[in-house]
Amino acid sequence: MARRVSALLEAAHRAVEAALERAARPLLAVDATAGNGHDTLFLARRVGENGLVLACDVQRAALEATRARLETAGLAGRARLALEGHEHLARLLAVLVPDRSAPDALPGVAAAMFNLGFLPGSDKRVVTRPDTTLAALDGLLPHITPGGVISLHLYTGHDGGAEEAAAVLSRAARLPSTAWSVLQSHVSNRERPREYLLLLERL
Ligand SMILES: C[S@@+](CC[C@H](N)C(=O)[O-])C[C@H]1O[C@@H](n2cnc3c(N)ncnc32)[C@H](O)[C@@H]1O
Repeated sequence: MARRVSALLEAAHRAVEAALERAARPLLAVDATAGNGHDTLFLARRVGENGLVLACDVQRAALEATRARLETAGLAGRARLALEGHEHLARLLAVLVPDRSAPDALPGVAAAMFNLGFLPGSDKRVVTRPDTTLAALDGLLPHITPGGVISLHLYTGHDGGAEEAAAVLSRAARLPSTAWSVLQSHVSNRERPREYLLLLERL
């Protein structure tokens, strides 16, 4: 059965796809919350043969589901799966791209996705949290290439979700407008509790 894609997820995918299309090759993308691997697969399809997706999650089962999804699509070779919190992204990226000046080096990150909250159908106590989400964002921002995009899907319906959304929206609103375009969306006539999509584009 096809996955039901919300308007916000569709908007995130469109923005990420456009960023990957305009970026220089080879492409590097990040899935900061691999979960069941839907977004990792979306990114793996679009980074192309020489591209790479770094995907992390704190749940082993999530990474196993992600690996299985990639293998079914024949794209496991395009992803590095890290059983680590995204608050360690800066370190993970430094290992993956030790020397950006090398001729065959991957450039910075052209697109990154955060689908926050908990993994549907799993332990709802394992949720993303404001402090680690902000640490992830701060570690990732310097790695985004000009024209690159970070999408953040924020949910407010679970315990701590509203606080996390507020913290991330506030952090994003303080990014310098000379370096970042920050777009915030929500569906105003239907979705309750409210979900937000934040699109951060490096100018
Ligand atoms: C909404 S789900 C992600 C869905 C996923 N993008 C997909 O396509 O299926 C959120 C995920 O964030 C993970 N998570 C929670 N804290 C995390 C952290 N500190 N670092 C990375 N992932 C985390 C959870 O384990 C869960 O799998």
